[in-house]
Amino acid sequence: MIPDKAPKEDVFHCPENLKKESHIPSFEKYKEEYIRSIENPDEFWGAIAKDFFWKTKHTGRFLEYNFDVTKGEIFIKCMEGATTNICYNLLDRNVHDKKLGDRIAFFWEGNEPGDELTVTYGELLQRVCQFANVLKSLGVKKGDRVSIYMPMVVELVVAMLACVRIGAVHSIVFAGFSSESLCERIIDSQCSLLVTADGFYRGDKLINLKLLADEALQKCRDKGFPVKKSIVLKHLSKEPEEVVGSQSPPAKRSCPDLELSWNLDVDLCWDALMKGASDQCEPEWCESEDPLFILYTSGSTGKPKGVLHTVSGYLLFVATTFKLVFDHQPDDVYWCTADIGWITGHSYITYGPLANGASSVLFEGLPTYPDMSRMWAIVDKYRVTKFYTAPTAIRMLMKYGSEPVQRYTRKSLKVLGTVGEPINPEAWQWYYSVVGEGRCPVVDTFWQTETGGHVLTPLPAATPMKPGSATFPFFGVVPAILNDSGEELEGPSEGYLVFKQPWPGVMRTVYGNHERFETTYFRKFPGYYVTGDGCRRDEDGYYWITGRIDDMLNVSGHLLSTAEVESALVEHKAVAEAAVVSRPHPVKGESLYCFVTLTDGATYNATLEAELRKQVREKIGAIATPDYIQNAPGLPKTRSGKIMRRVLRKIACGEKDMGDISTLADSGVVDELYRNRCCTTA
Ligand code: WTA
Repeated sequence: MIPDKAPKEDVFHCPENLKKESHIPSFEKYKEEYIRSIENPDEFWGAIAKDFFWKTKHTGRFLEYNFDVTKGEIFIKCMEGATTNICYNLLDRNVHDKKLGDRIAFFWEGNEPGDELTVTYGELLQRVCQFANVLKSLGVKKGDRVSIYMPMVVELVVAMLACVRIGAVHSIVFAGFSSESLCERIIDSQCSLLVTADGFYRGDKLINLKLLADEALQKCRDKGFPVKKSIVLKHLSKEPEEVVGSQSPPAKRSCPDLELSWNLDVDLCWDALMKGASDQCEPEWCESEDPLFILYTSGSTGKPKGVLHTVSGYLLFVATTFKLVFDHQPDDVYWCTADIGWITGHSYITYGPLANGASSVLFEGLPTYPDMSRMWAIVDKYRVTKFYTAPTAIRMLMKYGSEPVQRYTRKSLKVLGTVGEPINPEAWQWYYSVVGEGRCPVVDTFWQTETGGHVLTPLPAATPMKPGSATFPFFGVVPAILNDSGEELEGPSEGYLVFKQPWPGVMRTVYGNHERFETTYFRKFPGYYVTGDGCRRDEDGYYWITGRIDDMLNVSGHLLSTAEVESALVEHKAVAEAAVVSRPHPVKGESLYCFVTLTDGATYNATLEAELRKQVREKIGAIATPDYIQNAPGLPKTRSGKIMRRVLRKIACGEKDMGDISTLADSGVVDELYRNRCCTTA
């Protein structure tokens, strides 16, 4: 299924100088290692495991599993018999065995330019041990769940690793979620403790996080689930002399505007607890399949699923994907712009980089604040070499053209990455040629909260890239494309993307609901893990994610992917972003309703509309001609930047009841779109 030879045409190659230092410097090497990872996983992963510390070694096979619901319960077990501690592997191993105590783990860059801190591996270890002792003193034990609701601060990493050190299970809730969502997640995972902060700024907007946390805890009490204690970090309200363990006192951190309520029965002050805590804490040695963390992801029923990851397999998988996909080198400065509240932040801000002893930027702010060139200012300031962001951010910045990018040199950059949604070839090209000036490979990494780490991805020095394709499987991953009847398709084809066998980092269950795990991922096509994404394989064997299957449209019996139509629209120079949803049609079954956001300076009129229809017809075919096109100055998005298609579908259908829109970044957008919706076709 991997082609014998890399294609010669229409591809982008890695520059020679990067190949010289690369771990996987050629397509041949990738193929050789890939085959080894599939044919002999024990040997492949066994060699990688040697880099890590195991209190006891595993016995038996590297992976044991059942992936077929018709043969009994689904299970995946990796390295049974081994015991370890991930926090020990991320910190103690780097500080003591590798002598990296003075290496910077994080360059923290606050929302305001100039607000900055650094933390070394040695300092991080001390603070994690202290906080682990704080958790223990509050009665938190191995296996207990701790909910974390914090902004992008170093203490968030400290809190998560302190849980890991004592074998507690963290459940991080993105700080952009509502109190209702936090309450729902606390109760679902039965958390005994909350760790939160007073507040933070997103751009010039002050968020009183404590108020939301208080509301959530009140809702929990009302539902008969009282959380006894809440540890509150005074991130904004602390005075400079209260700052613990920093090298330079931060500026502008005192915040007179923040009203801080304090419940003496529940709230405990982070700094006060830390002051009395010892910085020595023996790690809890955990079994390979002990739970590591729970992270909620949305489900088709509306109720979020608590995706559960476990210890050994997740560690090996995120450490290896980070090392190879970003081709990590000791002098790198890496920056992933995601929030730790999402899986990308878990795997590729905390676990993957720290497992490799990497130095990373941890950014609290927004790409657009105080201006459109903030990202590139940060890249130059820290001489970032490897940069990882989302297509939505790229498309948003593209709207402002190349000038804000070119204000900075970006000359340190070596590898660029994207994640989270299909990247349209036009955005890919802009990222590659404007941001990377044609000298940085772009790794389009396809994966999910459920997969733990990258499953389809280029390797920067090995894989010839095609803009918009996530290319080939990572080591240990075996993809297939199925048709509606569940038959595996060979060669160039399009259908459901599935995986045929587990890899070390795949999720193990839905917390508290193994039945839902089996139903969601394994029942549709027995014997396979079903991603829920549509996928096309081209004549060169490249995989192209076409979008969620639930975003597929059937127009006059033709299956169309919304991503495909969107990509065609976005190729028009007047369009910055597009979102396509289905609207029921009496004859065709479904019709295409397209929302388009224009680039700065473009005007919406009948000529443009006609041009857009023509463009899509020309790119895909007459079956994909948009039935409705609406000018959308803004699109409804979650705070992580995902377009909320469910809301757009309602607008397209003229339905007023939008359902739960608490995860929307800006709900005003919805009213405006609804008011201006199209009622008749062109
Ligand atoms: C989509 C994010 C195309 C996909 C890590 C997947 C992508 C969902 C890509 C998971 C990509 C993620 N190309 N689509 N490179 N990366 N997706 O759980 O639909 O937040 O199923 O994990 O994002 O989103 P999640």
